[in-house]
Amino acid sequence: MKTPIFALLGLPTIFRIALVVQATLHPRQGITVLSSAEITAFKPYTFFASAGYCEPNATLAWNCGSDCEANSDFEPVASGGYVGYSPSLSTVIVAHQGTDPSQIVSLLTDGDFALSPLDPDLFPGISSNILVHSGFRDSQARSAEDILSTVTTALSEYGTNNVTLVGHSLGAALSLLDAVYLPLHLDASYRMIGYGLPRVGNQEFADYLDASFPGKISHINNKQDPVPILPGMALGFHQPSGEIHIDSDNDWNSCPGQDNPEKGCTVGDVSSILVGDLNDHDGPYDGVEMDSSC
Ligand SMILES: *[C@@H]1O[C@H](CO)[C@@H](O)[C@H](O)[C@H]1NC(C)=O
Ligand SMILES: *[C@@H]1O[C@H](CO)[C@@H](O)[C@H](O)[C@H]1NC(C)=O
Repeated sequence: MKTPIFALLGLPTIFRIALVVQATLHPRQGITVLSSAEITAFKPYTFFASAGYCEPNATLAWNCGSDCEANSDFEPVASGGYVGYSPSLSTVIVAHQGTDPSQIVSLLTDGDFALSPLDPDLFPGISSNILVHSGFRDSQARSAEDILSTVTTALSEYGTNNVTLVGHSLGAALSLLDAVYLPLHLDASYRMIGYGLPRVGNQEFADYLDASFPGKISHINNKQDPVPILPGMALGFHQPSGEIHIDSDNDWNSCPGQDNPEKGCTVGDVSSILVGDLNDHDGPYDGVEMDSSC
């Protein structure tokens, strides 16, 4: 626990005993550590997410330095973010561009946003109880229809049914919204792999994702990165399940449930933005620094 011991001293004895008993009986409840093979399986997607930062002309030519070389068989279809097909992974990849660490933090903390419903034209039939960050919503709406038509083309062109949404930071937030948007229009097998994902929506949003894509969403958080705890739960924001937290020992901990509070998971290890370290936001994720190759 990051909670300093003196913070516990102010609590009534009964709560102190309860906390100690809980910590003793349930150390790292439910957390499993990924094997090195499981970590390695994420690596191509990590490079794909990082390539989301490269210039559109570079990703369209798939000539963006080490991020592109790491997935050398990739066949780009469109760029500006980018969409294309990975023969070795048998999936269409949709990558959104992220933004730099200080910009994402101001987007999440400046208060210039609201929890807002999704546009029913873009998200037909979605519950109006599902609320998301208005800035992320507006940004996803701008690219939504282009991405839908490009993904539709790519699926038929390459004869696959698999779509993998990747992104880092802001790019991960937009990918999470695409994970709600695309299946409402296009029947496919979806997976989402995000890095440094901020909180995007409310409890109903997180529950909708958990119910719609059980086990298909992974969001990987590096060490003391504070972005995944922003905006705060007190403001009504919640993460879906699927957290993988890289801890200080470089273990990749699979943290079950939403906003898992155990030590070894982001909420447990990064108790506030003050103990966060924004330098951890860009990585490294198994050796890959986001946005470093282009
Ligand atoms: C992309 O365009 C920029 C200028 O806008 C240029 O410097 C760069 O070489 C181009 N990259 C590729 C791969 O064509
Ligand atoms: C979808 O991906 C899985 C592996 O995740 C693969 O076994 C399957 O063949 C793919 N399906 C298509 C139609 O490409």
